[in-house]
Amino acid sequence: MRILSGIQPSGALHLGNYFGMMQKMIDYQEQEDLFCFIANYHAMTSLSDGKALARGTLEAAASFIALGLDTEKSTFWVQSDVPEVQELTWFLSNFTPMGLLERCHSYKDKIAKGIAANHGLFAYPVLMASDILLYQSNRVPVGKDQKQHVEVTRDIAIKFNNEYGDIFAIPEPEIDDDVATVPGLDGQKMSKSYGNTIDLFLEEKALRKQVMRIVTDPTPVEDPKDPDSCNVFQIYSLFLDKKAQADLRKRYEAGGLGYGEVKQELFEIIRDKFEPYRQHRMELLADLPGLREILNQGAEKARYTAMKTLRKVRKKVGSAY
Ligand code: ADP
Ligand code: TRP
Repeated sequence: MRILSGIQPSGALHLGNYFGMMQKMIDYQEQEDLFCFIANYHAMTSLSDGKALARGTLEAAASFIALGLDTEKSTFWVQSDVPEVQELTWFLSNFTPMGLLERCHSYKDKIAKGIAANHGLFAYPVLMASDILLYQSNRVPVGKDQKQHVEVTRDIAIKFNNEYGDIFAIPEPEIDDDVATVPGLDGQKMSKSYGNTIDLFLEEKALRKQVMRIVTDPTPVEDPKDPDSCNVFQIYSLFLDKKAQADLRKRYEAGGLGYGEVKQELFEIIRDKFEPYRQHRMELLADLPGLREILNQGAEKARYTAMKTLRKVRKKVGSAY
């Protein structure tokens, strides 16, 4: 079973990215044929600073590898290192009705927020379809917000296959209901765009500062507290097994637990959890030629699969003559 997903390198990686996507992908590599990439072309829809994008790409790649993504077991690459994805995007565009894109929530939400509409933003789902179809993906784990994009991909693939025969595998979106949305500092979904993240690889002081900013209610220390409505509890629980979660719950309900105390514990847990990975990440970023070599090898592997698909497609559409 081929599983594919990508992450945009458009900002620092945070706990939402880790628990919502990265950890799951890293677990998959043991049993499945995992394809995982850094979606730097997609990030251009929100980031025009080329230097920041290039740096973000290297950092996201180093972070994924440091967190345990095994580049031997899986296929791991940077999207733009296989530029053939753009060629397929064009072919797919001709099988993408305008209405399909006009209905996309993600596009509509961005426009509603006042982001200027441009063709990149509009065509974003076609590039995403190209990522998925080029590599003959069967399953695509994504957050709820991306489900519609996988459905668009299916529609495009079915239209294309109807015209030319069975060229593409039809992918299934995989939405894991167990991985609830990780809340941010203010209780909304943790997201770069809301400025409410706890980042994975901050240095100690800055990390502590972020954790201390988690919004809590004004219940006095001695009073019992409701864990279910507490952002600190929700985030803390991600690091605990069932038994430890139940113990923490009891401490909340017993009263006498201050939010400052529980935030300090959470800060230490986050720091200690990511400390070993931080070292490895720094080493990878300190040797950029070495990191680029790893990424080149990943791109070679990805391109092998991409070319198999693309050769068939070029023949069918007639660009190979
Ligand atoms: P952001 O919202 O910070 O821009 P992205 O949209 O780039 O994050 O998300 C990349 C991946 O991380 C997606 O698979 C997404 O589902 C997952 N993800 C992001 N934020 C969260 C969250 N708060 N909870 C769970 N998963 C998340
Ligand atoms: N759009 C996805 C996101 O923002 C990232 C992405 C790009 C992706 N191409 C993909 C995810 C292909 C899955 C499959 O999270």
